[in-house]
Amino acid sequence: MSLISPDTYVLITGASSGIGAGFAREFAKRGYSLVLTARREERLLALRQELAANGKVKVQIVAADLNANDGPRRIFETCEREGWRVGGLINNAGLGVNKSFLKLDEAQIHSMLQVNLVNLVELSRLFLPSMTHAKKGFVLNIASTAGFQPVPYFSVYAATKCFVVSFSEGLYEELKPQGVLVSCLCPGPTETEFQQVAGMSPRFFARSQSVDEIIDKGMRALERGKAVEWSSFFQRFSSTMSEILPRFIRRKAAAILMLKCGAE
Ligand SMILES: NC(=O)c1ccc[n+]([C@@H]2O[C@H](COP(=O)([O-])OP(=O)(O)OC[C@H]3O[C@@H](n4cnc5c(N)ncnc54)[C@H](OP(=O)(O)O)[C@@H]3O)[C@@H](O)[C@H]2O)c1
Repeated sequence: MSLISPDTYVLITGASSGIGAGFAREFAKRGYSLVLTARREERLLALRQELAANGKVKVQIVAADLNANDGPRRIFETCEREGWRVGGLINNAGLGVNKSFLKLDEAQIHSMLQVNLVNLVELSRLFLPSMTHAKKGFVLNIASTAGFQPVPYFSVYAATKCFVVSFSEGLYEELKPQGVLVSCLCPGPTETEFQQVAGMSPRFFARSQSVDEIIDKGMRALERGKAVEWSSFFQRFSSTMSEILPRFIRRKAAAILMLKCGAE
């Protein structure tokens, strides 16, 4: 059964790399038409060429910066103007910078808040009404296991992901009666460009998962109508445990782990 209304598109943010590109490949394989967005247009064009090889799906591209206030509106207005009706939205674009708070500069803090949080909300605000009108559609927000606990030396990033989990679960309940699924996928360390962008030590990613594993869990969340899905049993278990543990233990343990992995 299709996850979206006929003749609508799945819009994927952060499709130029990693998990976003993985979702684009999976949805194209399943015959969904796509709108792909990110800043690096040349990457999107190459991905479109690759996906077009299967010949069945339409792939549209909108290069946009989600660090900019008007990024979501530019994407929305392009879709409206071109007549690309969006029936599914994957809010995947995101970044982290792994430094102690006082070593982050203003621009780094701003982009984590703007891309991971403010513009995720704004894209949801712009694209959800047509889905509730059609009584069909989905939003899949890519959070993180970091959304279940404070993470010293990664505090801003973890707090944005905590917001994403809470926001998604709230919308799940609000919009389920209206036929729209809002789901939240929580990966742990995954082999993408995230590590380089965040400036994280390879030690942190020693046991990372592949993009394919993450996509598999994301598709499962959508097919089963789940509010929250983790990328593995281990990630689910550790998130649940960290919610049960006394707060001083979980934040201390996270600080020790981050320092051991080279955070400063
Ligand atoms: N990899 C992990 O270990 C991990 C773990 C948990 C959660 N996650 C989450 O998974 C999501 C995808 O990350 P990934 O692992 O696939 O990392 P990635 O390979 O670095 O991909 C990040 C994507 O976000 C886009 N992006 C970043 N800043 C942007 C901006 N200002 N405007 C528009 N797009 C922007 C990038 O595109 P451009 O640079 O071309 O703009 C890129 O396509 C993120 O939300 C991340 O927080 C990742």
